[in-house]
Amino acid sequence: MRGKTVAEHVSVMLNEVLEALPLQPGAIVVDGTLGLGGHSAAICQKIAPGGQILGFDWDSSMLELGKARLAGFESVSQHFFNEDYRAISLRVEELNLRGKINGILMDLGLNNAQIEDSARGISFRTEGPLDMRMDRQSGEPAAAYLNRESQARLEKAIWEYGDENWAKKIAQVIVQRRKDHPFRTTSDLVDAVAEAIPPAKRDKRIHFATRTFQAIRIAVNHELDDLEGAVRDAARCLAIDGVIVTLSYHSGEDRAVKHAFRELRQEGGFKELFDKPQTPTQAEINANSKSRSAKMRALRRTT
Ligand SMILES: C[S@@+](CC[C@H](N)C(=O)[O-])C[C@H]1O[C@@H](n2cnc3c(N)ncnc32)[C@H](O)[C@@H]1O
Repeated sequence: MRGKTVAEHVSVMLNEVLEALPLQPGAIVVDGTLGLGGHSAAICQKIAPGGQILGFDWDSSMLELGKARLAGFESVSQHFFNEDYRAISLRVEELNLRGKINGILMDLGLNNAQIEDSARGISFRTEGPLDMRMDRQSGEPAAAYLNRESQARLEKAIWEYGDENWAKKIAQVIVQRRKDHPFRTTSDLVDAVAEAIPPAKRDKRIHFATRTFQAIRIAVNHELDDLEGAVRDAARCLAIDGVIVTLSYHSGEDRAVKHAFRELRQEGGFKELFDKPQTPTQAEINANSKSRSAKMRALRRTT
C-alpha cells in the first residue's frame, strides 16, 4: 500500500508499520505523530468497526489536516490532542485506557507539508522567516535562538544534532555576523553556512546547509529532549501483546529509541520484534527519496 496524503506526504514504510502493529477490528491505537494522517487512515481501515484512535500532533495545522483525513472513519472513535507526544501516557490515563492500548506509532520528525511551507523557514530551499517552530504558539523562533545563543552552545547543537564537521566554524560565523546583521530569514542562515564551509570542502551529496538547518530545527523544538523517557512512558501504556512502532530519521532519535527499548527489555515484559532496525526497501527509496534515512523499530509487551 502506498500512502499519498492530501498535502503530499508519503507515509514511510507503511506496509511494514501495518504488519508490525496488531490491528484488528476494535483495536485501540495511539498515533503520537498524526501529521497528515496517512498511517492513521490505513490503521483506521484495519481497526474498523469499533476501534479507537488517539491522534497527537503539536502542530495545530497538521492536526487539523490529519483530523480531516480521518473524518470518513465513522465507526472508529477518535480523540485528538494538539499536544506533544510526551503527553500520551497522561491522556491515556485520563481516558482509562492504560494497559488497553494495542498499538502505538511514533513517526518522528516532520512531514513534507511542514518542510515546504516557506512561512515556517524550515527549508533552506525557500526564502522565509527563520522560525522553524512546530508549535507556533510557544517557544522561541530560530532567528531569536541564533541571535542570542552562546557560540559554544551553537557549536554543540550543530555538531550533535547535525553531525556537521564544520560546526565550530559555522558557530563562529553566526556569532560574528549577528553583531551587525541579526538573523531574520532562511537566506541569512544559508549565507552564514556558505561563508563557513569553503566550496571545495562541501559534501557533494547534500546541500551544504542541510545539516545546519536540521540541527537548528531540532534545537529550537527540543526534539530530542527526553525522547527516551517519552518512548518508555508510552510503551508502558500497552496492553499485553500490544506493540509500539517507531520510525526515526536521525541518529539521535534512533539512539534514544534504542536505549528506551533496551531499558524496557531489561525491566522485563517487553520483547523487540526485530534484531536490528528495519529500513525501507530500495523500491520505496526510489519512489520517495525522503524515506532513505528511516529506521523502524518495534517492541511488544509480553507480560
Ligand atoms: C513524519 S510526520 C508524520 C506523518 C504521518 N505519519 C503520515 O503518514 O501522514 C511527523 C509529525 O509529527 C509531529 N511531531 C513531531 N514531533 C512531535 C512531538 N514531540 N509531539 C507531537 N507531534 C510531533 C510533526 O508536527 C509532524 O506532523
